[in-house]
Amino acid sequence: MDFNLTEEHLMIRDAARDFAQTELLPGVIERDNAQTFPDELVRKMGELGFMGIMVDPKYGGSGMDAISYVLIMEELSKIDASASVMVSVNNSLVCYGLEAFGTEDQKQKYLTKLATGENIGAFCLSEPEAGSDATSQKTTAIDMGDHYVINGTKNWITNGGRSDVYLVIAQTDRGKGHRGINAFIVEKGMPGFDIGPKEDKLGIRGSDTHTLQFNDVKVPKENRIGEDGFGFKFAMKTLSGGRIGIAAQALGIAAGAYELALKYSKERKAFGTEICNHQAIAFKLADMYTDIEAARLLVMKAAWDKDQGNNYDMSSAMAKLYASKVAMEHTVEAVQIHGGNGFVKEYHVERLMRDAKITQIYEGTSEIQKIVISRGVIKE
Ligand code: CAA
Repeated sequence: MDFNLTEEHLMIRDAARDFAQTELLPGVIERDNAQTFPDELVRKMGELGFMGIMVDPKYGGSGMDAISYVLIMEELSKIDASASVMVSVNNSLVCYGLEAFGTEDQKQKYLTKLATGENIGAFCLSEPEAGSDATSQKTTAIDMGDHYVINGTKNWITNGGRSDVYLVIAQTDRGKGHRGINAFIVEKGMPGFDIGPKEDKLGIRGSDTHTLQFNDVKVPKENRIGEDGFGFKFAMKTLSGGRIGIAAQALGIAAGAYELALKYSKERKAFGTEICNHQAIAFKLADMYTDIEAARLLVMKAAWDKDQGNNYDMSSAMAKLYASKVAMEHTVEAVQIHGGNGFVKEYHVERLMRDAKITQIYEGTSEIQKIVISRGVIKE
């Protein structure tokens, strides 16, 4: 067992840290206020290889491992979780889904542009009445021979407005339950595919989240991913990897808030000394550091499982469950350590606290992670 990062991993981490400091930090508060994220920054992340981190270079990707992926996610998330969710969804849910389960034609047509950041992707599973209960898909995809016709609504879709490629999960044969669900590649601009207004959110406000409407959208048969009825398993397998990305995002949010709180506590004086010298603050720092390190070990273990070809359904669920809890609890503590300044936007911790909440909700709520973990434990 070796807990050291390789030289290559350290270089990748430092490149992501440098990018986050020089490119993401300036303007992060303004982007949060305005709910925007410029295409220019997405393009730069693409140039650095962050949009297709684990994709084979023959499809335009960076060919890195999952450890590199979580290192990049942690560093980006310390500064801007809106940027990192774009990276996570594009990498784990869209690029991975296409590379692992798509046809060669689908990879050539879609993956090559998604992996470089020339195009952006979205993953469309959630519906008004099918969030956690993902088998209850109301969106239909009727088989018309050489094409499918999709009708329905998808909610809370990350990258919903800015994407070029949408992976859409829909019910083809209700009688077959989850075995009648398929996944489709839908392109922006296909007739009948409409993008609703941007949601006004608590956190990750720079990332765009939309409701999508499908009214008789004709999708060619060659755009179905996998065998007929593979769609639910496609979603579950893809989400297992996505949860590693979101776990790393939560870790980064927690670590970013901790680093700010530590620095502040060494500068701010009260009762004649820096506040880190007061046990009330020092013990908070000790708890934060310990919990963040534990979350990092779970995140790394999940990524390592993926790299080793091990099953990572449980390790990704545990990493996400724990890291998101740590992110929520310790961003609140970081605000507390900052006192009145913590409540003010320019100190960044209030944004990190708002951003932390979604990590307990998307890509499977904490309650869903407990279902996955408990089922795995009972089966063992
Ligand atoms: N890999 C492969 N197959 C899997 C699987 C996995 N990880 N998990 C389940 N399956 C299979 C099961 O084996 C079963 O197939 P068989 O009947 O052939 O054996 C089938 O899928 C149905 O499984 P379950 O009976 O376990 O289904 P369930 O209704 O009990 O639900 C669940 C399981 C884990 C709760 C699942 O519904 C789930 O994960 N829900 C949460 C969905 C979610 O994460 N949504 C997030 C939205 S996406 C998002 O947030 C993206 C974004 O924009 C950021």
